[in-house]
Parts: sequence; C-alpha cells; structure tokens
Amino acid sequence: MAAAREIKAREMIDAGDDDAVEVAKRHLVQPWPYAGSVGAEARALIGEGDGIYITDASGKRLIDGPAGMWCINVGHRREELARVMYDQAMALSYNTPWYTMNAPSAELARRIADAAPGDLSHTFFTTGGSSAVETALRFMQFYNNVRGRPEKKLILSRGGAYHGSTYLSASLNGRPRDRDWMDGADELVVKLSSPNPFRRPQGMSVPAFTDFLVDQFRDTVARVGADRIGAFVGEPVQASGGVVVPPDGYLKRIREICRENDILYVSDEVVTGFGRLGHVFASGDVFGIDPDMITFAKGVTSGYFPLGGVIISERLLEELRRSNHPDALFGHGLTYTSHPIGCAVALKNLDLLEDGVLQHAREIAPYFQARLKTLEELPLVGEVRGVGLMACVECVADRESKDPLQLDKDVGKRIDAHCHELGLLVRPLINMCVMSPPLIISREQVDDMVAILREGISRTMDDLRKEGVWRG
Ligand SMILES: Cc1ncc(COP(=O)(O)O)c(C=O)c1O
Repeated sequence: MAAAREIKAREMIDAGDDDAVEVAKRHLVQPWPYAGSVGAEARALIGEGDGIYITDASGKRLIDGPAGMWCINVGHRREELARVMYDQAMALSYNTPWYTMNAPSAELARRIADAAPGDLSHTFFTTGGSSAVETALRFMQFYNNVRGRPEKKLILSRGGAYHGSTYLSASLNGRPRDRDWMDGADELVVKLSSPNPFRRPQGMSVPAFTDFLVDQFRDTVARVGADRIGAFVGEPVQASGGVVVPPDGYLKRIREICRENDILYVSDEVVTGFGRLGHVFASGDVFGIDPDMITFAKGVTSGYFPLGGVIISERLLEELRRSNHPDALFGHGLTYTSHPIGCAVALKNLDLLEDGVLQHAREIAPYFQARLKTLEELPLVGEVRGVGLMACVECVADRESKDPLQLDKDVGKRIDAHCHELGLLVRPLINMCVMSPPLIISREQVDDMVAILREGISRTMDDLRKEGVWRG
C-alpha cells in the first residue's frame, strides 16, 4: 500500500499533472497562508532542479531567482552532495546527541571555527535558522542567569528584521504584516529603526541617517538600561525585509556600543552565511565585526538538508566554565542536533564553496549588481540595491514621495507572474522583487535573468496603466 502510494506520488510529479496540487489543496498546510485560503492553496508545483534552473509542472524551465529560499547556493542536482548523503546514511544515519556524538559534526564545527571571525570557536547545530536564533537567545538567557544577572534579558531588534518562526525568534520580527495577527513575547523585545537608507527621512543625508541610527541605539540602551538588555540580534543585510544594506560603518558602531554595555551581539547570518556575499561569513570579512554569536542555516548545506547552528564565542563559554555555578544546566537540545547526514553534506558543501564557488561569487557579484541596476531606468522602479549575490528591485508609485502604497500592494506578485511566463522565478515581497540566484550563475545567465525581469516589469507597468492603477 505504502509502495503503491509512493509510485502514485512519483507518477504525479513525472506526469507533471496537477494532481499533486489538488492533493495539497486538500491535505497540506503551506507556510504563510491567509486565513481565507489556509489548507486550500494551489501553489506552483516544482518537479525538478538542475544548476540554476527549476522546472514547473508544465515542464517550463525557470531560473531559480531566489535560489529556493536563499539557500541553493551551489546549485541544484549536485551529484557530490547527493552521494555524500547516501554514503553517510549507509554508514550512520543517526545517533543520539544526548549521550553520543559523531565525527562529521566535530569536523564541521572545526571548519566553521576556522572560517568564523574573532574568538567564535564552538558550534551548536540546530535544524534550521529559527532554531538557531532561538538557541542563541536561550543561551543568552542561561548565560545571564548563571552570571547572576537574571534581569539582563531584553533583546534589541529592528524594523524590517526577519529572524524566524518559532515563538521567541518570531517575536523579533519587524516586517510589516508579519505580526499583525500573531502573538509574541513582546515584553522581551525592544524595537529600533530599520537601517534602510532608501527609507531615511526626506532631506537627511546618509551619514546623518547613520548618526541618527547610532544615537537611537545609544539612547535606547541608556533609557532601558544596559543592565536589562541581554542581546542585540541583527542581520548584517536585512534579507526578507528587502535586502537592506546598512550604511557604511553602522554595524561597527553598533558593535562597539554593545561591547561597551556588555550586550551580546548576535549576527544573524542565516542568509548571508556560506557564500551569499562571497565569503563563508560576512560579519568579519565584509563588515569588519566580531560578534559574540553568529547564527547560520540555509547555505550551510545549500538547502540539501535542514541544518543550522549558532557559533559561540570562546569567551562566553569560558565565563560559564569559570562561574560559581558549575552545575547549572543549559536545558536545551534538539533530537536532530548535530545530525550526521546534515553535517556530512555541509562538509562537502563547504569543500565546493572553498574550491571555487566563493571566488566565483565574488567575481560575478559586481556584474550581477550592475546589470540589475540598469532596471532603475524603468519608471516603476524606485531603487535597485544589493550586495554580493543578493539584490532587491523596489517598485514605487512615485519616485519623489517613494510611496509604495498607492500602487497595487501585490505589484511584486504581478511581476512574478509575468516573469514565470518568461522563464524566471522571482521572490515577490509586496512591492519588491528579491533576487538571490544560486552562486554558480554565469554572466550569460545573469543577462537572461535581467532581460526577463525587465520585460516582466514592463508588462506590469502596461497592466497597471491599463487598469488605471498607476499613471507613471
Ligand atoms: C535572517 C534569517 N534568520 C532566520 C530565518 C529562519 O530560518 P528558518 O526558516 O530556517 O527557520 C530566516 C529565514 O528566512 C532568515 O532569513
């Protein structure tokens, strides 16, 4: 019976028919649904992936513009990664991390420590990004409990942030709409402004905006009290918030304030880690900061296996070891902590990254950014911004006021629909399109991607004009 079902599932995908979509509508709850369509959604069925391409149910080949969810860094269908997962499963598919350990996790932790900035020396492996952020925060709470300062637990986070979908990590999120209908541990979180230069107050220069952000941070610490703030959590580049590249020097200055006030700096590199900016970690190599913890996931296995982790500073671990409470228990662990298959595939993925993919990403990034920047010629486009192989095309109704709201809110989805027709999957975010292709993309493929996006935006402009929604 089970085998028959498996064959049926295979046939559905092979035949490329819509049965799987129908079955999903009856039985699958998909992420981020609206109440009105929860458990009843028909999302595009993807059957296959190869290199930077994926194939939809109709057999149409699409450039995977978002690389899955910023994760397929070395591309789809890498034989080496598939092989190593098979080999590891045949050697040891699982061991309990409660009482035992495995060699791939130790070796991966060593390689990560080698690549990490500052004194980040030890990794706790999780199942993904949310659980990595959750672990970092629970570690901060434990650390302050052991150090005898249980009131030092508040967390600083920023508008535009996305840190996950578990209760505590989600409480940090600051994107519009995410929290409107969801509960959270609001009493534990203090929110700051997003460091988005495009949305800075009119008439303010970028350096003045940077000073404003730093002053706001410093003032907030003074107002709330450093003795009550345990951590600041920030993405080096806010990813799902619309690829917000912070102004020069901002992260370093925030890092300093954290150090002065004994506030742990948690750099959330779930998106930027493992190659998106051409380096294993962006915190040190791109932004010159040495956080107390780095969280990562996604690209660590190029999305082939759900794995994440938090890298912790040697100093913090040493303080715990030297504390007056050697028996205090960090009561935190996941069944799949240090999963051998995940760690084995991550090791091979790291080989691929270090053996050429990172260098390729660094070389192609300026071309990728420059080609996308040409889309600013289109009147619907307010700004194209980005760094490394992540970029955002932000649409506005009016370039002067930068108003996104007069536009149909789903302008990103409209562009995505046109691009799908033309052979490109886009990640639509309200009025923005985020592009973060697999790092192995070639110059010709960048050209294809940008040409399709240009045409998709042009067709959207025509639609909006025809419908009288926009007069640009
Ligand atoms: C910066 C950041 N942190 C955390 C997460 C959560 O990761 P996951 O979805 O693997 O739980 C994400 C997911 O997109 C993210 O972008």
